[in-house]
Amino acid sequence: MSAPANPNKALWEKGDFTRIADTMRESGEALVRRLGITKGLKVLDLGCGDGTTALPEARVGADVLGVDIARNLVEAGNRRVAEAGLMNIKFQEGDATNLEQLPDKSFDLVVSIFGAMFAPKPFDVTKEMVRVTRPGGRIVMGNWIPNDPTLVAQILKISSNYTPPPPEGFVSPMTWGIESNVIERFVAAGVSADKISFARDTFVFNYGGTPSAFVDEFRKYYGPTMNAFEAAEKKGRAAELQKELEALFNSQNKSQDGTSIPATFLRVTVAV
Ligand SMILES: C[S@@+](CC[C@H](N)C(=O)[O-])C[C@H]1O[C@@H](n2cnc3c(N)ncnc32)[C@H](O)[C@@H]1O
Repeated sequence: MSAPANPNKALWEKGDFTRIADTMRESGEALVRRLGITKGLKVLDLGCGDGTTALPEARVGADVLGVDIARNLVEAGNRRVAEAGLMNIKFQEGDATNLEQLPDKSFDLVVSIFGAMFAPKPFDVTKEMVRVTRPGGRIVMGNWIPNDPTLVAQILKISSNYTPPPPEGFVSPMTWGIESNVIERFVAAGVSADKISFARDTFVFNYGGTPSAFVDEFRKYYGPTMNAFEAAEKKGRAAELQKELEALFNSQNKSQDGTSIPATFLRVTVAV
């Protein structure tokens, strides 16, 4: 008998997140430069995608393991590693809610930028992140913020108006952008609240085409937007969704000859 489908895995394998990740590389590199990574540091990049932060971590000398639930993104990450000729990084499949393949206290730094926030069961996620971090180590998360006026929070908000209500018991990934929720989840995993700090940070999406063409990339390749369009099409509302997203992308664009859109996120740092 085959195992029941995992909707979390199916969502991220559905599209091709590499198309969106390609527009996030500069911010990924800049964020890694701010993390103070030293040569030989053991880093777990969780929900690593195709390595927007994981490759820069390896380039500054860390020993990096990238873990992601989506098989296609793990394969894409390993291809990028081979192309870059990096020997100190590898990617493997895994689920942030259950990292059973990883021993306790095995990483100096666990990084999860817009990654673990998308896993279900947030209390299992903090338990696992804390378990694999060595005492004296650090966890850094990047989480989108609910109702923030900038790009990603607004894409997810607009999309939710077109999709059916989630199943009972579903915890929205956006709750990871609320400080009190983050504190509650890490405290439940045994971290003292005074070891958790927060900062607002920015990722910039840089795309060579127009904002409307960038909306099309999300429509074709970004799992959550693909689902929103599928639901909207069933109700004959796809054109309305397209229009709302184009208005959003155009109003937030800062570039004259392409697309450059900043998006605010909550950076969480936990001292373990
Ligand atoms: C928005 S992408 C971000 C990827 C990458 N961190 C980046 O910044 O480009 C979200 C990533 O989280 C991964 N993900 C979602 N749920 C996960 C889970 N339960 N365990 C591990 N990875 C997960 C997805 O497959 C996807 O690669």
